[in-house]
Amino acid sequence: MLIARVLTFVGAILLSNATFGQNKSLSTPEIEAQIEEDLANMSLQEKVGQTCQITLDVLLKKDAEGKLIEPVEIDPAKVQEAIVQYGVGSVLNVGWKTITLEEWEGVMDGVHAPFNDKETKAPILYGIDAIHGVNYTVGGTLFPQEIGLAATWNPGLAMQFGQATAYETRASGVHWNFSPVLDLGRQPLWSRTFETLGEDPFLVSEMGKAIVCGYQGDGGINSEHVAACMKHFVGYSNPSSGRDRTPAWIPEKYMHELYLPPFKAAVEEGALTVMINSGVVNGIPGHENYELLTEILKNEWGFEGFAVSDWEDFIMLHTVHRTAADLKEGIINAINAGVDMSMVPLAPQYQEYCKLALEAVEEGSISEERLNDAVRRILRVKYIVGLYEKRMNQAKKYDDFGSEQMHQLALESALESITLLENDGVLPLNKNQKVLVTGPTSDNLIYLNGAWTHTWQGDNPLFNTEGRLSVREAMEVYLGEGNVLFSQGAELYLDEGFEASKLSDTEDFKAKAAQSDVIVLCLGEFPCTEKPGDIRSLNLDAAQLELAKMAYATGKPVVLVMIEGRPRIIRDIVDDASAIVQAYLPGDFGGEALTQLLFGDANFSGKLPYTYQKYDGQIEFYDHPRSVSRHKANHFYAFDPQWEFGYGLSYTTFEYSNLQIDKSTIEEGDSIIVTLDVTNTGDREGKEVVQLYIRDHYASMTPAVKSLKAFEKVTLGAKDKKSVKFVIATEDLQFFGKDGEWISEPGMFSAIIETLTADFELK
Ligand code: BGC
Repeated sequence: MLIARVLTFVGAILLSNATFGQNKSLSTPEIEAQIEEDLANMSLQEKVGQTCQITLDVLLKKDAEGKLIEPVEIDPAKVQEAIVQYGVGSVLNVGWKTITLEEWEGVMDGVHAPFNDKETKAPILYGIDAIHGVNYTVGGTLFPQEIGLAATWNPGLAMQFGQATAYETRASGVHWNFSPVLDLGRQPLWSRTFETLGEDPFLVSEMGKAIVCGYQGDGGINSEHVAACMKHFVGYSNPSSGRDRTPAWIPEKYMHELYLPPFKAAVEEGALTVMINSGVVNGIPGHENYELLTEILKNEWGFEGFAVSDWEDFIMLHTVHRTAADLKEGIINAINAGVDMSMVPLAPQYQEYCKLALEAVEEGSISEERLNDAVRRILRVKYIVGLYEKRMNQAKKYDDFGSEQMHQLALESALESITLLENDGVLPLNKNQKVLVTGPTSDNLIYLNGAWTHTWQGDNPLFNTEGRLSVREAMEVYLGEGNVLFSQGAELYLDEGFEASKLSDTEDFKAKAAQSDVIVLCLGEFPCTEKPGDIRSLNLDAAQLELAKMAYATGKPVVLVMIEGRPRIIRDIVDDASAIVQAYLPGDFGGEALTQLLFGDANFSGKLPYTYQKYDGQIEFYDHPRSVSRHKANHFYAFDPQWEFGYGLSYTTFEYSNLQIDKSTIEEGDSIIVTLDVTNTGDREGKEVVQLYIRDHYASMTPAVKSLKAFEKVTLGAKDKKSVKFVIATEDLQFFGKDGEWISEPGMFSAIIETLTADFELK
């Protein structure tokens, strides 16, 4: 039972760096033999159908005006055409909003009917974007978005998030989750930064593996698990313009040292599927990159699952990227590069896809061997997730769907993610104070959740989860309505597709500020993702800055809470704040978590998973080369963030001492043990993330000033001391050299933890 496991798990692993499986293969000789038998019995057309994915809308009943009927209902004639006649192998998504468990059951009955009735030889694999919990099922549990999960620096918690989400996804009858995003968050303008696990490849790898393990199970997939999907292979997150699906230029060194490692780690964890980058890297569309898809992912890393395209991307090779002269050439290029399934996903495009792909195989432009390889991979995943077994998706068997334990886990995740950046002593707030809650993100769940919540863009409050609380509501429940004043302050909206804001009733704001003892000012962003989420500047907009200045002018202490998916620049409003809190997009339990933290019922332990930038013209990351941060004393110094990667305060204080290494020289293949003591020097319990960085002193290619190589989150009672141990292998000292190979070079290295350093030599 999930919950029993969750509870033991909390005790056992929550605060340690769990070790996840290495090079897991989830297939068996029996499955492989069965696949060969199935392949031998399939026609070319049936095989092509397996590589075709359509969106659910294509199969739903519509009214005379073409609008979806509600509650959603499968149209058997459309199923007959797509799944039986064309042999379509996969379906994705929801109509356009969250549906109920009962509606899901009807959908699943409809899409599985042809296989259950033996009209098709392979079952449908259904995929969905349950990226921060089950966001398309009414009553599903909504966790912080990935960027917040990363800020917990707690792989045990990330794994539990994965388990809970897999469980609720299966309760909805779905076997495949398009998650986790393993793209590196190194372009803060990019609208999907909140979907990433931050800027550092090691942090992303550790948290990503943990999520995959939670989704797929540690000992194999059962009826509480789903297939994971690593997204979006690779380099999608770094568009030069900052705008979604525009080109990225990534040097080979950075591709290997930064962007590829999280995917490699997830492949080793056994991740079953991968979704391809919709953009173009170094002039080559992600969907045509043979070297990355076939040579590296499949051949070098031994990835045994399948690669699905992103939305309409075979078509876009022709219509947008212009590397294919027509639709058929797009299909040929993508499949030959190594993409196994096309998210076509609309009608009549899917019929066209099936026709053209079949023609391409018949004329030899795509070999039958390549088609077989794609289908083999798709069937393998279908067998592994249990689709050929008796269906186990009836809602009644998943009694913990949306249960109190699930809610506790989501609350715990939000509590561990929210990060305290400044505090002059105003926090924790006093329960006898009168609080003014204000700001555009303070009074609606849509701001706490962001996109991929009930709808794609997550901006429609009509679908907010019943019973969950905004920041204002959570404060009112906590303090009693009479002790909380509310003024909107400012509003966020879209103006010709771009975010905009305006001040609300300023007189109301001033009058209520005058009656309050402290102001909790919630600023941030309008929910959005992908191209609709494009912005033109990282600076926070003028009206929100003005509202902050109005708040400071009242003379009351101001607690600034940033509810946002990326580090928007707030340089001009930092100094006058009494406290600053980074909430990220904390999910349905964010209001409650924030309230508990602000009033000191819980302690802050989140740490920034990204560099919080101070200037939009100077975007640098913590692992920059030395040239970026020389001459600290003058303006040559180009690394000047608002707050550094890994930073976050607590209500208690920690002291680091006694850093030791077990040897001062090591040889290739050897490892070094680093130990230190951490003491809680304050008077309340707290959790601290101990972070180990390595600095290479000299190398044949300019090294980073430091790189994260290990971390562990520890809990310490007041005045408690703990010893923490890390093991560094010589592999951790390697870099991607001039000859295109990972190499080690002899020389001096430093192990750095907080302000402590120990040097050692690689012989
Ligand atoms: C997004 C993917 C998502 C897919 C299916 C695409 O537009 O880029 O991340 O999984 O749609 O919804």
